[in-house]
Amino acid sequence: MKSVLHSIVLLGAALGANGVRADDVSAEIRSAARTVAVTTCATCHGPQGRSITPKFPRLAGQNADYITAQMKNFKSHTRGDADALAYMWGMAAPLDDDLIVGLAQYYSAQRPAPGTMSDSGAMARGRDIYAQGVATDGVPACSTCHGPSGAGIGAYPRLAGQSSQYLLKQLRAFHTNLRDVAVMHGITTSLSVDKMRDVADYLASLGP
Ligand code: HEC
Ligand code: HEC
Repeated sequence: MKSVLHSIVLLGAALGANGVRADDVSAEIRSAARTVAVTTCATCHGPQGRSITPKFPRLAGQNADYITAQMKNFKSHTRGDADALAYMWGMAAPLDDDLIVGLAQYYSAQRPAPGTMSDSGAMARGRDIYAQGVATDGVPACSTCHGPSGAGIGAYPRLAGQSSQYLLKQLRAFHTNLRDVAVMHGITTSLSVDKMRDVADYLASLGP
C-alpha cells in the first residue's frame, strides 16, 4: 500500500498541468522556449499567453499536443486564414520541433485567463448548442470532443475563456475550409453564423 501511494505521488510530481511530462524536453530547451515566449510571442499573445486583444488567441492552459499540432499547421500552411498567414506562418517557420514542444509545454502550464461575459440570452442559447448540439441541423454536441467544461484534451483544443471574436472567426474558417480540418468542417457545414456567435459567446464566458 505504501509503495502504491509513493508511486502515485511520484507520478503526480512528474506530470505538470494538463498531464504534460515536465521532462519531455531538456532543461536547455525549456529555458530557450521560455525566453522566446516572453520576448517574442508575448508581444501579441500577452504575458503568460493571457492575451487581452481578441485578434490574438489566448494560449494559457491550452493543451500541449494541440499547440504542437497548430505550430506544424502554420509551418505547412494548412491554416490559410489571412491572420494566420500574416502573423503565424513567419513566426512558426524558423522553429524546430524541440522548441515547438518546449513552447507548447510552457503555455499549457500557464493558468488560463478568466472568462468574459456577454449577452445572457446568447450565452444561454450557446450553452444548449455546446451541450446538446442542434439535432434538426445534424450538428453534434461540442462537449463530446471539447469536454463538458470546454477544457479539451490532447488534440481537442481548450475553448473555455478564449475570445469570442477569435472563436467565431475560426468557426467561419472551418466552414469555408480556409482552415482545412475535415472534422470541424463537417460540424460547421450547417451551423448558422448566429449559432456560431452564440456558442462562441458562451465559450468565452467560461473560466478556468
Ligand atoms: C505579431 C503577432 C504574433 C506573434 C508575435 C505571435 N503570434 Fe501566434 N498568433 C497570432 C495570430 C493573429 C493568431 C491567430 C491566427 C488566426 O486567426 O488564424 C495566432 C495563433 C497562434 C496559435 C493558434 C492558437 C489556437 O488556439 O489555435 C498558436 C499556438 C500560436 N499563435 C503560437 C505562437 C507562438 C508560440 C509564438 C512565438 C513563437 C507566437 N504565436 C507569436 C499572432 C502572433
Ligand atoms: C468529433 C469531435 C469534435 C466535435 C464534436 C467538435 N469539435 Fe471542435 N475541434 C475538434 C478538433 C479535432 C479540433 C482541432 C482542429 C485542428 O487540429 O486544427 C477542433 C477545433 C475547434 C476550434 C478551434 C479552436 C482554436 O483554438 O482555434 C473551435 C472554435 C471549435 N473546435 C469549436 C467547436 C464547436 C463550437 C463545436 C460544436 C458545435 C465543436 N467544435 C465540435 C473536434 C471536434
